[in-house]
Amino acid sequence: MSNNLIFSGIQPTGNLHLGNYLGAIRNWVKLQNDFECIFCVVDMHAITIPQDPAVLHASIREVAAGMIASGVDPQKNILFNQSRVPAHAELAWVLNCIARIGWLNRMTQFKDKAGKNRDNATVGLYVYPNLMAADILTYKATHVPVGDDQKQHLELARDIAQAFNSQFGVDFFPLPEPQIFATAARVMSLRDGTKKMSKSDASDQSRINLTDGPDEIAQKLKRAKTDPLPLPESAEDMKERPEVANLIGIYAALSDREIGDVVTEFAGKGFAEFKGRLADLAVSVLGPIGTEMQRLTKDPGYVDQVLREGGEKANAIAAPVVDQVHDIVGF
Ligand code: ADP
Ligand code: NA
Repeated sequence: MSNNLIFSGIQPTGNLHLGNYLGAIRNWVKLQNDFECIFCVVDMHAITIPQDPAVLHASIREVAAGMIASGVDPQKNILFNQSRVPAHAELAWVLNCIARIGWLNRMTQFKDKAGKNRDNATVGLYVYPNLMAADILTYKATHVPVGDDQKQHLELARDIAQAFNSQFGVDFFPLPEPQIFATAARVMSLRDGTKKMSKSDASDQSRINLTDGPDEIAQKLKRAKTDPLPLPESAEDMKERPEVANLIGIYAALSDREIGDVVTEFAGKGFAEFKGRLADLAVSVLGPIGTEMQRLTKDPGYVDQVLREGGEKANAIAAPVVDQVHDIVGF
């Protein structure tokens, strides 16, 4: 599979959490040995919503440190931040002139993030999916591992690639395939099983941050919303119990086991026991990551160097593609 190239990104907007780890970063670590991979801290996406410059600057380093601490190896992959490579913005402009307003109007994430006062949302938030398409296409990436929440944007990237190829009569951009991993594709909030665990949730109790210590992890899981029933006897029994299904899904993902297997092990037991076991498991997986993140955060010179070198490698791939795009367009 030598012609496969993987691209994925993560926003530097606050705390990296268990959902980012299980839904994204952990899968990147699994892919890095078998594929050529480009992993990007998408800082230009972050400013679609106003950011404090100093906080944004620190978050770029922190997210990169979180990826490295989780096992993303800068020697095996290209790891960089988006704003360093001009091709992303250059190609995004061309793609803005390919994508149709009607296509963007269908994007549910814009509707969610813009809220009721849509006229006040930035134009950047609206065209965010076009920049995401540029992120992927400027490397001619073939596969994009994402959480379930990004599937619609990826379908749009395929539509844009196809529209470009057909408008200019070229076979230039490959159509990128989403890679959605089955377990933990969507980790839910610990406080509300109908909302995804997110960096932007106002309640810190809703998520486990990669930097949380063992006591915080145990406390958050102990307080996680459940119901008065014992643990389910079968996977079928969890259908109307989203919070319970979420915790069992997290347990299965963290232990690399099948959901059915975990259900069988804990069938009929009480939540106190299950949550205690889940806390031990979470601490054993996340503890070393948090410690390594703290160490790397104290050594920003190393992280900055990784991003700088990664940016140079990324630019060497992306700049010639944009040159070719300009030729095709007629510049
Ligand atoms: P957030 O939604 O927390 O701001 P990003 O948009 O930066 O996170 O997403 C980074 C990656 O993490 C994406 O691949 C996304 O699909 C994945 N991801 C984010 N939240 C979750 C979640 N709750 N469960 C599974 N994957 C997630
Ligand atoms: Na690799």
